[in-house]
Amino acid sequence: MSRTPFIAGNWKMNLTIPEARELVSALKEKLSGVNGIDYAVIPSFVCIPAVSEILEGAGIMVGAQNMADHKSGAYTGESSPDMLKSAGANLVVLGHSERRGYYGETDENVNAKLKLALECGLLPIVCVGEVLEEREKGLLKSVLRRQVTKALDGIEKEHLPRIVFAYEPVWAIGTGRNATGEDAQEGCSFIRKVIGELYHPSRADEIRIQYGGSVKATNITEYRTLPDVDGALVGGASLKADDFTAIIKGWLG
Ligand code: PGA
Repeated sequence: MSRTPFIAGNWKMNLTIPEARELVSALKEKLSGVNGIDYAVIPSFVCIPAVSEILEGAGIMVGAQNMADHKSGAYTGESSPDMLKSAGANLVVLGHSERRGYYGETDENVNAKLKLALECGLLPIVCVGEVLEEREKGLLKSVLRRQVTKALDGIEKEHLPRIVFAYEPVWAIGTGRNATGEDAQEGCSFIRKVIGELYHPSRADEIRIQYGGSVKATNITEYRTLPDVDGALVGGASLKADDFTAIIKGWLG
């Protein structure tokens, strides 16, 4: 099964609208003609319209970092899938560890958002991963099994190819301590195994699973040949056009 690699840059709460415009204008130029890989930028909500306008027709997907778990209504401070689409987003990150850790997002929230994203035609990137204490206690697999199983609860098998997972060990995010290739492969292959058990191994083979956590141009080559790692979710190193371009080109070798 050949899966198109996918590298996405999560800008988190960084960059104003003018800064975002500058970054994507540079990326558009640097990535023109780079094929054989999917890539995306994931700005803050407020930057999505400006970014998507500049990237129109450039082949760079635009995503949101979060989404409401309801379609519309009295949910102050939230953005619905239709709002995100109308702003120019075509994908959405769900269950990032910063959402889970700082804002109390649960597996149930992630499941509700995943269903809604699929219903509304947004490509979801579902983040899962263990905190250091869980890893040290030998709980890696049980944490991943729980997060993946609950995220997929009630999702029909036909939807699976439209879901991307990201294995992001929380101890590797923003710490400069990236997981080894072996750790990334172990996490991603286990996620695939769980999906295979929930549905069928051939279904699991269709799903793309990214690794995320301190990915940089200097370590991307550690991941690109691993059988179950299909790309990367990049945070800090996606904020500079040269760095993000080097990561994408580094994956292609
Ligand atoms: P990082 O973030 O690359 O800055 O570690 C990764 C992420 O949170 O997706």
